Amino acid sequence: MSSFQTGDDRSFQSVAEKVPLKGANRLKIDYLGNLDIPFKEDEGMDVVQGLSRSPKTLPPKYFYDDRGSQLFEQICDLPEYYLTRTETAILQQYAGAIAQHTGACELVELGSGSSTKTRLLLEAYQAQDHPLCYRPIDVSGGILESSAQRLLQAYDQLKIHALVGTYEQALQTLSDAYLPQRMICFLGSSLGNLTPDECDRFFDQVRLALRSGGYFLLGVDLHKATAQLEAAYNDSQGVTAAFNLNLLHHLNWRFNGNFDVAQFEHFAFYNTELQQIEMHLRSLKSQTISLKTLNLTIEMAAGETIRSEISRKFDLATLRSQLQAKGLQTLQVWQDTNQWFGLLLCQCREL
Ligand code: AVI
Repeated sequence: MSSFQTGDDRSFQSVAEKVPLKGANRLKIDYLGNLDIPFKEDEGMDVVQGLSRSPKTLPPKYFYDDRGSQLFEQICDLPEYYLTRTETAILQQYAGAIAQHTGACELVELGSGSSTKTRLLLEAYQAQDHPLCYRPIDVSGGILESSAQRLLQAYDQLKIHALVGTYEQALQTLSDAYLPQRMICFLGSSLGNLTPDECDRFFDQVRLALRSGGYFLLGVDLHKATAQLEAAYNDSQGVTAAFNLNLLHHLNWRFNGNFDVAQFEHFAFYNTELQQIEMHLRSLKSQTISLKTLNLTIEMAAGETIRSEISRKFDLATLRSQLQAKGLQTLQVWQDTNQWFGLLLCQCREL
């Protein structure tokens, strides 16, 4: 039986009960909350609150059921969606430098999805002979399990302790690091999906989950021309529209709802004042919708929208000072040649 060599004897043998696989004793998956299983007690209050306010909103975490996670993977490959390939190119170039900066460390990835970009980091740590320990966190248990299995097959020294749940749940649950140091990775500009207040709380949670000296690797989308931004969220193949509308299918399934998805359309634009893309679901007619499990009935006028996501775009100087104020000092910033995207390596300092 193998276990991580950290002075504690937590073992990875237990995992296989849920996920039988080759090399099962290198994988552990803890379920904190899972969007692939139907309604759980105390769930959905965020949906009730969002749909009861004016204008109506929905929490973006409900995008990521298994179908939504698959659609998001497709978005990442779209020609208009420059974010993923730009960040990947930066990581391709600088993963070695990151591994050199941090030395051996456990990689915690928030919103890991298919873990494609993670491979670049794992390769870099492996090339420098560092032990490989990966802690992916995602609300979609399905995608997390399948990508963990693929990674274990590709890296025979890798150990994975995955957490299925929200960032918030996971950051509060993370136990001590398995290796002397920890790096929390938050890639793909997922920071942009948080409101400024949520972002503030999130940085506090990151700090708490890192000891002084721990690292935070943050990928963010930067300000750019409106046309380029709007094209990225209104792709010509309609994948982003399907991703947005799938949110309603998910809510129907999860909360016994009756959204007629054909009576909504995808609508996305750049809000120049707030410097954020906004994705909405626009009602094509006046309609009444109920979510039985949540005891909720809402009225929607023709043309009224539900804001399903914000995707904020960042300015590096402002972001760096926000991080600094939270005790996260930026050590290095890497960018692509177009300066579309930024990758920041920060270190947690005593406040
Ligand atoms: C996950 N997140 C960073 C994506 C974004 O760009 O805000 C989600 C997305 N929504 C539509 N397309 C992609």
